[in-house]
Amino acid sequence: MTTSRNRILELFQQQSDRYLSGEEICRDLGISRSAVWKQIRQLRQLGYEIEAVPSKGYALRSTPDALIPAAISTGLETDIVGRDIICLGRTDSTNTQARMLAEQGAVEGTVVIADQQSSGKGRMGRFWISPPAVNLYLSVVLKPVVPLRYATQLTFLTAVAVAEAIEESGDFSPQLKWPNDVLLGGKKVAGLLNELNAETEQIHFLVLGIGVNLNMPAEQFPADLRSPATSLLVERGEPVSRLSFTRTLLRRIDRLYALYMEKGFSPILSAWEKRCHMVGRRVEVDYQDYRLTGRVSGLDEVGALLLELPGGKTERVLAGDVRLLAEEE
Ligand code: BTN
Repeated sequence: MTTSRNRILELFQQQSDRYLSGEEICRDLGISRSAVWKQIRQLRQLGYEIEAVPSKGYALRSTPDALIPAAISTGLETDIVGRDIICLGRTDSTNTQARMLAEQGAVEGTVVIADQQSSGKGRMGRFWISPPAVNLYLSVVLKPVVPLRYATQLTFLTAVAVAEAIEESGDFSPQLKWPNDVLLGGKKVAGLLNELNAETEQIHFLVLGIGVNLNMPAEQFPADLRSPATSLLVERGEPVSRLSFTRTLLRRIDRLYALYMEKGFSPILSAWEKRCHMVGRRVEVDYQDYRLTGRVSGLDEVGALLLELPGGKTERVLAGDVRLLAEEE
């Protein structure tokens, strides 16, 4: 959606080496001088540093690391993901908000982002720690026209997109852990929670929920976490721009989604397996009251973990927590 504000930011981007006159903006947008001035004032309030020089015009000196729709969508150039972007300050959960919007008919590709979440949802009814100003909490609404049993494939697509965005934002080698964790050096840096709305054989919509620990300092992680966690800040010692990470991630999801709709699950699965260290290794899986031990032989076409049990039988595991085991002598 191109609003006046987005268009002004686009014009600044195109004219980065010179001043943009008020008249040019008026002409391009078809709005009055006072309307332009109002937009400039609002951009400044949002943290954009805009210099105004009489008889020359405006120059954009710096952009804030704020997650606001215009900054995310300007020049994003995605086809589906980010068609509508909603940025909230504090909310319960971006997944809950995205689900509500989808139920009210939000377009495919709608993105909901929050600065902080009061009830961030994790897998298996857990809580996702979501303090303000540091991390990314994002949900995307997709409406893939694929059989219902394939809905799980989108989780793997999301995990690959997050890994690619992390790789693009620094010298990182993220690893993927089944079913939906992204790790750095064995510690969790991102989690995914995809929620489905479907009926009989038809997917109405999917909400891809993504939480990435970007700039959370070590002391902000609770001491009693179930498994070790980290952030990009902790790993590389300097903050990453939430804005540019978000834009990269949306582009990656968009590109992989196009690939998936064109070529199916197999390129996504290969990209996922390339980053997964569990294939061929001995693991233990916990799910509610049962525990299984075996060797991972791969994933099937819906992303279930194929576990070779000690007796030789192969078990399909659809949910659970997996832990690597030491190899037996
Ligand atoms: C996990 O347990 O690993 C999944 C965590 C998913 C967290 C994200 S943050 C954005 C979205 N909104 C939520 O309430 N949860 C997901």
